[in-house]
Amino acid sequence: MKVLFAVAEADPFAKTGGLGDVGGSLPLAVNQGGCLMTVIMPKYKKIPASLQESMVHIADFTVNLGWRKQGSVLWATEYQGVSYYFIDNEYYFYRDDIYGYDDDKERFAFFSQGVLESILYLKDDKPDILHCNDWHTALIPVMLREHYRDNSFYRGIKTLLTVHNIKHQGIFSKELLGDLLGMREDSLGARSLKFQNAINFFKGGLLTADVISTVSPSYAREIMQPEYGEGLEDIIKKRKDSLSGILNGIDYNKYNPYTDPALTAHYPSPGWKKKNKEELQRYLKLTVEEGVPLFAIVSRLVDQKGLDLLEPIMDEILSLDLQMVVLGTGEKKYEEMFHHFACKYPSKLAAMFIFHEELARKIYGGADLLLMPSCFEPCGLAQMMAMRYGTIPLVRETGGLKDSIIPFDPDTGFGNGFTFKSYKPEELLSAMKKAVTIYRDQKAWTHLQERAMETDFSWAKSAQKYIDLYQDIMRRE
Ligand code: GLC
Repeated sequence: MKVLFAVAEADPFAKTGGLGDVGGSLPLAVNQGGCLMTVIMPKYKKIPASLQESMVHIADFTVNLGWRKQGSVLWATEYQGVSYYFIDNEYYFYRDDIYGYDDDKERFAFFSQGVLESILYLKDDKPDILHCNDWHTALIPVMLREHYRDNSFYRGIKTLLTVHNIKHQGIFSKELLGDLLGMREDSLGARSLKFQNAINFFKGGLLTADVISTVSPSYAREIMQPEYGEGLEDIIKKRKDSLSGILNGIDYNKYNPYTDPALTAHYPSPGWKKKNKEELQRYLKLTVEEGVPLFAIVSRLVDQKGLDLLEPIMDEILSLDLQMVVLGTGEKKYEEMFHHFACKYPSKLAAMFIFHEELARKIYGGADLLLMPSCFEPCGLAQMMAMRYGTIPLVRETGGLKDSIIPFDPDTGFGNGFTFKSYKPEELLSAMKKAVTIYRDQKAWTHLQERAMETDFSWAKSAQKYIDLYQDIMRRE
């Protein structure tokens, strides 16, 4: 069985968030699980030069996009034993960023059509399954049905579409249906895409993929509700029988407290956490003090992450005996908010508005707690990364956070983190106070850290679930 994994980002080639983590780690795990998976993504300007240099030319071909005929080059390389293919078109992808352009819909429509064309040139035989991810590649199953239905080469290829985040859908004006996608108003593909008075890539993919999945069992249930479905809840409900939720894993080689070069001292050497914390406090110019709990936020600074819950309680939080570090980039309003409080409480709060992987791991290594009060969270990976380094997550019970964190009960010693239910500042505050109290109980805290570090978030289990799902897809008519 051969699977082609089509994705907009994959670490270490290109990554802006969790999708890139999964793009970089799931394929390796699936291959290790005995199923051949190859990755295909756009060839961005951003891909590090050393990785670009290793690419070999595979083919030149043309991608038809409505009336456009776009030249395209297919490149390939191997990374950690996994084959990667890259679709190259300078006009679309030689830009400074991966997303954020007015013509993103056209760029990813091109990529999706390019994936289908490139199958003709792949070195291995044609894939049995196209595994698509998020709105960027959601057009693949639509185009496969619409444009390749009568092409015998493509017959029998199955599709899986995984939802990493239903908030971003790829919505554009329906005038582009013919212009960009070459579809007639009443065609099957066009009907699947139509959404209110526009066209919606994600909707089309969710209706036409053979099977759909998302990145945690809880989020699979949530997106069938209006509160989380972002307008697509009824579409997803329709596909209920073809929907599954598989929790992501993380790369245990990269996030490894035994060997991580970002750490000052490694697990399990005596006092390793204390040394990392001291080093981190010094680096952040916070008061160097062992007994003060250090909370971390390592996140994209966007609405999804629940940061607006913090604003009204920041003064109260920072009047407690604790410290806080924030690392991430995103919306101005959040950067301004944290900047304001960092100026007000310089010895207690440090905020850095950059995307910095090594620093993130240094923080996981030195902090005591990780805050993730997300409004919604399809899976969430930071909580898993933090736990690997004995840093205890405090999360809102939603999506993958609910599926990965069991609230700690000091009486039974059961659980691996702290949680709160309602999306309310006072609930977050009281969970933080509870965490601080338990932190002061050395014995309970050590036990909790052990529980957290023992929780298995390696990919092996989840990769096997994907392989089972692929097998299930192959059995479908
Ligand atoms: C998106 C989601 C996040 C998930 C990641 C990988 O970034 O917001 O919750 O962990 O995709 O699936």
